[in-house]
Amino acid sequence: MDKIVVGGGKKLKGEVFVSGAKNAVLPIMAAALLGEEASRIENVPSLRDVTTMVRLLRVLGAKVNQADHVIEIKPGNTLRPVAPYSLVSTMRASVCVLGPLLGRLGCAEVSLPGGCVIGARPIDLHLKGLEALGADITIEHGYVKARAAKSLRGAEVYLGGSFGSSVLATANVMMAAALAKGTTYIENAASEPELVDLADFLVKMGAKIKGQGSHLIEIQGVRKLCGATHSVISDRIEAGTFMVAGAMTRGSDVTVRNCNPEHNRALIDKLRQAGVVVNATANSVRVRRNGLLRPVEITTLPYPGFPTDVQAQIMALATLTPGISVITEKIYPDRFIHVSELNRMGSKIFLEGSSAIVHGVKRLSGAPVMASDLRASAALVLAGLAAEGTTEVHRVYHLDRGYERIEEKLSALGASIKRERE
Ligand code: UD1
Repeated sequence: MDKIVVGGGKKLKGEVFVSGAKNAVLPIMAAALLGEEASRIENVPSLRDVTTMVRLLRVLGAKVNQADHVIEIKPGNTLRPVAPYSLVSTMRASVCVLGPLLGRLGCAEVSLPGGCVIGARPIDLHLKGLEALGADITIEHGYVKARAAKSLRGAEVYLGGSFGSSVLATANVMMAAALAKGTTYIENAASEPELVDLADFLVKMGAKIKGQGSHLIEIQGVRKLCGATHSVISDRIEAGTFMVAGAMTRGSDVTVRNCNPEHNRALIDKLRQAGVVVNATANSVRVRRNGLLRPVEITTLPYPGFPTDVQAQIMALATLTPGISVITEKIYPDRFIHVSELNRMGSKIFLEGSSAIVHGVKRLSGAPVMASDLRASAALVLAGLAAEGTTEVHRVYHLDRGYERIEEKLSALGASIKRERE
């Protein structure tokens, strides 16, 4: 297993290029199963989760060719409907093959993904949505078994929950509805940019979709879909992580390229409130950190609110911000596993329910720390960039799930960071 070793205190300067979005490419790869011909997906990030999805699509019977940042998927006519526990348990996003399998084959058996370290993650909304389209769903032996006696039919589907909507449930219903008979309306749909990218891909395949990016999506079912070529949008969470990296040490000046600043409005707004100088163009964001920062109050919310996937990273920044910052997690109330590791580096963070009260400290001190999930790992790397001495982040396979060559990208900005074998 590898570890990341970070020497703290360096100013970061220069440009960094953002890769394709993990959360867009995974459902798009699943959507390719709906086509009768091959699809070509470009700007694919080189990540462990993408490799897992490639393995899953192959198990389902698709032919997949993977080259440098490009994937070709030929679903063929002999797809198998079973997504096994061994793969779904390693990557929750595997659940988004449920909609395409049901749409294409009329049946699907997908292992229940279960919870993970960031908390309970039910899939009731996915099932509710697919049932509304006419699927019979049972849970047997840890698997969701979905079957449509006749073909799926369009319906009004309300995807509500106490937290807002669900991203992957919206994706699943949109994909299944693309081949249903009649028109589907997804009410209270999630509006994340990755879902707009998925809808754009489906439209290229021949689907009839309107309203993507809003909370009401209309899908007029068609009889068949073809293959399509599509370039994935850039990863707003990776971009956000580099923006925070550029704010971690005084004197840093980082330009994040190949990103869409519109997708990071909430983060940019908070960075500015904190006193970070942020200049955005159509496809880049320059972040400069001069003096001391001001504390912030942040609540994670569905898009376009502040993303839960940048909560841990902004907390790393708040640890060194004088005063008291309050960070409230509304999407995953237990997503604070990074707090105890940050406190081992000298931060003063207290948890009160689903809020973290962060008392800014003058310095963090490098320490061996354990990565626990993808974004928590990124937060520990960021803390290491500003800490005194050396930080060793262990179990970095979490980072490799969602960041392409993060140590190389940060090193090119002047960070002292390297990957070592344990
Ligand atoms: C996606 C992202 C993940 C991000 C999350 C929230 C991908 C591959 N992953 O995950 O990085 O952190 O959105 O922005 O795109 N919920 C239910 N019932 C359901 C489904 C969800 O109660 O059936 C709850 C969840 O527990 C959570 C909230 O809804 O509290 C949002 O989850 P959801 O939007 O579904 O997250 P994912 O789509 O799994």
